Amino acid sequence: MLVQSIDNFTGVNPDALVVSLFEGESSHIDFVKIHVVETKDFEGQYNTTYLLPTLGQFPAPKILVLGCGKRAEFNQNKARILIAKAVKTLAALKLRRIAFDVDFGFDYGKSGTIGAYIGNYSFDKYKNKKSERVDEVYFTKVRPSEIEEGELIAQAMDFARDLSNEPAAYATPQKLADIAQGLEGVETRVYDEAQIREMKMGAYLAVAQGSINPPKFIHMKYSVENPKKRIAIIGKGICFDSGGLDIKPPASMLTMKDDMSGAACVLSIMSVLSRIHPQVEVHGIIAACENMPGGKAYKPGDILTAKNGKTIEVDNTDAEGRLTLADALCYVSELGVDEVIDIATLTGACSVAFGAVCAGILGNNDELVKNVKDAAFELGEKYWELPTYEEYANGLKSEVADMRNTGGRSGGASSAGLFLKEFVSNVKWAHIDIAGVAFLDSPLNEFGKGSTGAGVRALLNYICK
Ligand code: BES
Ligand code: MN
Ligand code: ZN
Repeated sequence: MLVQSIDNFTGVNPDALVVSLFEGESSHIDFVKIHVVETKDFEGQYNTTYLLPTLGQFPAPKILVLGCGKRAEFNQNKARILIAKAVKTLAALKLRRIAFDVDFGFDYGKSGTIGAYIGNYSFDKYKNKKSERVDEVYFTKVRPSEIEEGELIAQAMDFARDLSNEPAAYATPQKLADIAQGLEGVETRVYDEAQIREMKMGAYLAVAQGSINPPKFIHMKYSVENPKKRIAIIGKGICFDSGGLDIKPPASMLTMKDDMSGAACVLSIMSVLSRIHPQVEVHGIIAACENMPGGKAYKPGDILTAKNGKTIEVDNTDAEGRLTLADALCYVSELGVDEVIDIATLTGACSVAFGAVCAGILGNNDELVKNVKDAAFELGEKYWELPTYEEYANGLKSEVADMRNTGGRSGGASSAGLFLKEFVSNVKWAHIDIAGVAFLDSPLNEFGKGSTGAGVRALLNYICK
């Protein structure tokens, strides 16, 4: 899709012009004033639209009026959501060249571009009949640099969404490793099963052993001279989560190809860093594997030894993400980075608590957690802090090992976070639980069903600030 800044929409001969209408206000376009505002056919309630054919009496054949609600309540998030809606609506009508002449009252070039990409997205690789898409988007009153910034973020989101929408048969641990190795501007090392064993990652290996597809431990590194700081991002990379021997019921297993959404986020971020060139060193880490109930699968009651020597009694094989992340956190703790952020579709409990509306976040450093949260919010992701009271770890006590891998159903998002904390040493750490937000069962705001690219906007914005 082409996105461009223009001075005046008449020069581009759009198939449709998109204009804004705030409640109680008029329009700067006379045609809209006469045919919409004065007739009161449409009054601009937020998130509603009105399509107006112009029958040869206006430079564009159609005008789409966007209801923006009350101006005092308007913001960048609403701007992005409405632009996504406009693109989706007009694409469905087979209108491919669209000009926006909206009066949002602030610089909307970046959020607008991100919104246009989100609205134009669909995962139709495997369909013979492709979805309708918009080819050209023009914005008046925006700076080209804002569009460029938005495009990088939006393309990274598309990349992550595609990868986590892919069936598990495609997005295997080997595939993630191949993608990592093909990235430009980053150095990648992939450890195979024997090397993972040498590194003594006993928790991660146990999860992997139930599948015939072997694990791949992926370490990507983006370097700069004299970095301002060193950051590691770890993405949960369970390419399919069947639950293992504690197998999931069918309805819960159905979307478990998305259990590598954290890994998809990390890969997508690593894929654009060399185009953005932030002055920070970034390590991207993925302990990729599948959680399957094969003949060699790990079993409830097994006792595993993680890389840092701590022992874990397996209470439930479906609490696998934290086992793979435990070893990845140990590995990162030895890298000498300043900060580590892990992002994971970790707990159904987080999804139950927050729904698809916001992700959970916790950590061992208030400032880091706050900064990640702010960076997320600025580009339209919502994060809410999970409590870390030590009582949430009570259920993790074991009679036979240093800890168990689950702490019971209630408070599950916090207890999972406290489990991870046991494997973090000498580094500022934040943990993001995207179980509820990574993959939608029904459309929400600017997103349709399926993967949302959760974490991409948040982490890119955090890294680049
Ligand atoms: N991948 C799941 C968490 C999940 C649930 C992600 C729903 C997306 C949507 C994770 O591995 C898992 O199975 N967690 C268990 C933990 C339990 C056994 C303590 C859960 O949340 O039920
Ligand atoms: Mn699981
Ligand atoms: Zn999982």
